Amino acid sequence: MLSKIAVIGGGNIGGVLIQELVRRRLARTVALVDVKGPELAKGKCLDIAEGSPVISSDIKVEGSKEYDVIEGADMVINTAGVPRTTRPDGTLPTREELLATNLKITDAVSAGIQKFCKDAMVISIANPLDAIVYRLYQNLQPSRARLIGMAGVLDSARYRYFIAQEAGISVENVEAMVLGGHGDNMLPIRSACRIAGMPVEKFVSPEKLDAIEARTRKAGGEVVKLLGVGSAFVSPAWSALEMAEAIIFDKKKIMAVSALLEGEYGVNGLFIGVPAILGAGGMEKVIEMDLTDSEKEAFKKSVESVQKTKDEVIAMTK
Ligand code: APR
Repeated sequence: MLSKIAVIGGGNIGGVLIQELVRRRLARTVALVDVKGPELAKGKCLDIAEGSPVISSDIKVEGSKEYDVIEGADMVINTAGVPRTTRPDGTLPTREELLATNLKITDAVSAGIQKFCKDAMVISIANPLDAIVYRLYQNLQPSRARLIGMAGVLDSARYRYFIAQEAGISVENVEAMVLGGHGDNMLPIRSACRIAGMPVEKFVSPEKLDAIEARTRKAGGEVVKLLGVGSAFVSPAWSALEMAEAIIFDKKKIMAVSALLEGEYGVNGLFIGVPAILGAGGMEKVIEMDLTDSEKEAFKKSVESVQKTKDEVIAMTK
């Protein structure tokens, strides 16, 4: 249990996060900041606090429009940002189109973290994922162990779910990794996908796997279309909590996270989804996976698209 965990942004994802943080008793104090009026954060926290006797919880839950509520937090989970929403003409903005708006929000978030809890471990969820994490890095200059983005855990969970459905096998038996940027060029790593330790191809045909991998790449958009308003929020919150728990309980668990590469995979200075060990030290080690030639090629493509967004961040924030 940590002393204090702060959630920034109390919308759909932030709302699930605070209730789960309290229910799972991951910190003695859970704080929420959201600029939305009249007092969205205060209201969401009061709702949970008033329910706390029912779940026998003495966890303190505090919400505010002001950033001082996050003072002294050991861990920050950042969800502040505009989600992808269907336009009136039925089309979807790309994650990159959200960039301009979300960069401004990210600068406000960074200022809050810098002022009130600059040593906190930061897990960021806002999109476009890899670019927002990079902006936080530019602003906060933390060690790479203390700043990671949540995307790979969710993308891998989606891949695992689709495989489990197709194979008619429990999700618990499906192990998978989705690497690369959190966009259309993400990479479900078929060579690392196992069902109860056996190669996935034993259970699912190559054609079906192609279709599942294509669906995985577009899975966020599929939910956005179905919802009509906003984007997926329960699965992203659970995925960030998976990362938080690995750190809080020093699990040394390997999962796909957006981490700053310092030469691994031949890449330097870019946040992108790779397998990493999460423990008490935060992002403790990047693991270099053995990829097939075509997977290496696909990873290179994904690096190029994340680099493009990073360049846009640099250009837009000059
Ligand atoms: N500081 C704090 N909170 C802010 C700020 C800010 N500067 N700017 C916006 N917010 C808040 C909004 O008021 C809103 O309540 O962030 C919240 C975002 O919540 P939702 O709009 O419900 O979005 P959500 O579905 O939770 O997604 C958040 O995560 O997956 C990504 O693409 C998604 O970028 C989006 C983010």
